[in-house]
Amino acid sequence: MNVLVTGGSGYIGSHTCIQLLAAGFNPIIVDNLCNSKKAVLKRIKQVSGSTPTFIQADVRDKAALVAALSEHNIEAVIHFAGLKAVGESVEKPLEYYDNNVNGTLVLVDAMREAGVKRLIFSSSATVYGDPASVPITEDFPTSATNPYGRSKLMVEECLTDFQKANSDWSITLLRYFNPVGSHPSGELGEDPQGIPNNLMPFVAQVAVGRREFVSVFGNDYPTKDGTGVRDYIHVMDLADGHIAALQKVGPKPGLHIYNLGTGNGHSVLEMIAAFEKAAHRPIPFKFVDRRPGDIAECWADPSKAQTELGWRASHTLDAMVNDSWRWQSTNPQGYSDQ
Ligand code: NAD
Ligand code: WQD
Repeated sequence: MNVLVTGGSGYIGSHTCIQLLAAGFNPIIVDNLCNSKKAVLKRIKQVSGSTPTFIQADVRDKAALVAALSEHNIEAVIHFAGLKAVGESVEKPLEYYDNNVNGTLVLVDAMREAGVKRLIFSSSATVYGDPASVPITEDFPTSATNPYGRSKLMVEECLTDFQKANSDWSITLLRYFNPVGSHPSGELGEDPQGIPNNLMPFVAQVAVGRREFVSVFGNDYPTKDGTGVRDYIHVMDLADGHIAALQKVGPKPGLHIYNLGTGNGHSVLEMIAAFEKAAHRPIPFKFVDRRPGDIAECWADPSKAQTELGWRASHTLDAMVNDSWRWQSTNPQGYSDQ
């Protein structure tokens, strides 16, 4: 079965392509390379033995999408393409709404024209805003505190309305918690451009000597050790969640919503300590002020995905940090080979 993967050369998309190939699917990537490099394709080949078809195009280019969907007999689309930096979204809201919201609308319009009716969308735990309690189930109220989060929420709402009006479509919203880790081969991983916004790539760059210390954003939260607590999930588990969704609910018309998380919360200090163990070296850190907009704690109740998709995260925290370190230590500058 041919699957169009928008944003397939990015962090989560590239790992999902590997798992798609392993499960017998044929991924066709559409990516404009605004936050990834073509070198990823060589790494996918190294790991899986196959190079996915790659189309360099923007998801806002409807003609290119209709052509890709029709020429490759696509049966389902996994839509990763989008911008994802919260801070940048505050500076450049128009770019975020255009890429994330308009990009999705153009994609769905192209799918409609090409007669493709199965879509899996990369949503985020950010749509839960500041949750009243943890763990978070899919029926918690949603809200947003920044343009990135609002763009995810808007897309969820647009897709919900669209599915209501087009009941023969299967639309799946996957709400990811905090993806970390790398392919166990060390060939693929997260390669942020500039200063990493997220904790784990920052920690990895400190470990490898690219940065001096980690700034820990706040040590006065009402949590186990005062630092923020999150549900970190191995990117390979996340990738497998897409395969499970494709197989289990892809063929079923309806709107399907799942949390993809582990159900466990780890603090910033626990993550740093785990990484120190993996890298066999101290990771210097300093406590600084809280980051505006951050919440104290957030973790998933992943039982709906377990019951309905037969999926559950299986990688341990040690696997997350060991794999992340293997990638970072063997590729200290990321995909520098272009
Ligand atoms: P990423 O930046 O590594 O991958 C996104 C890919 O989309 C990149 O290869 C980029 O070049 C491409 N892209 C961006 N805009 C495009 C456009 N207009 N047309 C074509 N290609 C475009 O990000 P990721 O971490 O792999 O995230 C994938 C998806 O998952 C995003 O939608 C993101 O919002 C969502 N998500 C990510 C996280 C996270 O922490 N990484 C958490 C929750 C949800
Ligand atoms: C994790 C913890 C920070 C960096 C963000 C987005 C969310 C989703 C995932 C896409 C927090 C602390 C961080 C640092 C730190 N993305 N931290 N020092 O904030 O949970 O979620 O990425 O959808 O939408 O908001 O992830 O990795 O930035 O932070 O102390 O240098 O680490 O305060 O407690 P977050 P994160």
